[in-house]
Amino acid sequence: MTTTTFGERCFASWYPRFMARVERAGQADVRRAQLAHAHGRTLEIGAGSGLSVPHYPDDLAELVLLEPNQALRAQLTARTDAPAARVTVVDGDAHALRFPDASFDTVTASLVFCSVRDPARALAEVHRVLRPGGQFLFHEHVRGTGLRATVQDLLTPVQRRLADGCHANRDFESLLRATDFHLETILRARMPTLLPTIVPLVVGTARRQ
Ligand SMILES: C[S@@+](CC[C@H](N)C(=O)[O-])C[C@H]1O[C@@H](n2cnc3c(N)ncnc32)[C@H](O)[C@@H]1O
Repeated sequence: MTTTTFGERCFASWYPRFMARVERAGQADVRRAQLAHAHGRTLEIGAGSGLSVPHYPDDLAELVLLEPNQALRAQLTARTDAPAARVTVVDGDAHALRFPDASFDTVTASLVFCSVRDPARALAEVHRVLRPGGQFLFHEHVRGTGLRATVQDLLTPVQRRLADGCHANRDFESLLRATDFHLETILRARMPTLLPTIVPLVVGTARRQ
């Protein structure tokens, strides 16, 4: 059982309201289009307040929602818009997933790898719990280029403090390319928000071979 800090409780109180506007501005469409590809036994890591939950297909075999922040987990449990599949909300840590090797067909993550302490280790865990041929659906805000990257570097220490460890400047694509995953699709997009540090997005699919 993880403990929830004051910072995590604060984050749980403002993040869903902040994102509600972003979702209405188009982010929900990104989730819907991507999560339509989820199938079989599915794990979402860092599920937060459950903004992805209504976008999963109804015919999943099972949906496991992993979230270490207790205040966010309570919001997840309270959701009534989950797919028809069996849904379980669990505590846990992406660095050490408490699931056997090759136990999921799909793993999903949205806006999570900016926050995990050791993204390479978390990616290795995602790879381990996927069955061979299984898919990792990701959707992450990332380091930009030029002036934006400079601004992200400058503001990351502040953003980490205010947003529960969120690094504005993580180069998720390079981290993913350094793993054993086969990168199948990657779309570079923009988050519909005025906050410049979290605008560049990558959305895609990587497969365990
Ligand atoms: C910016 S929020 C995104 C929440 C949600 N996925 C979404 O799309 O709105 C980042 C999430 O990652 C979770 N997180 C941070 N470190 C984690 C870890 N080591 N293992 C699992 N989840 C983690 C946080 O608790 C939080 O819910």
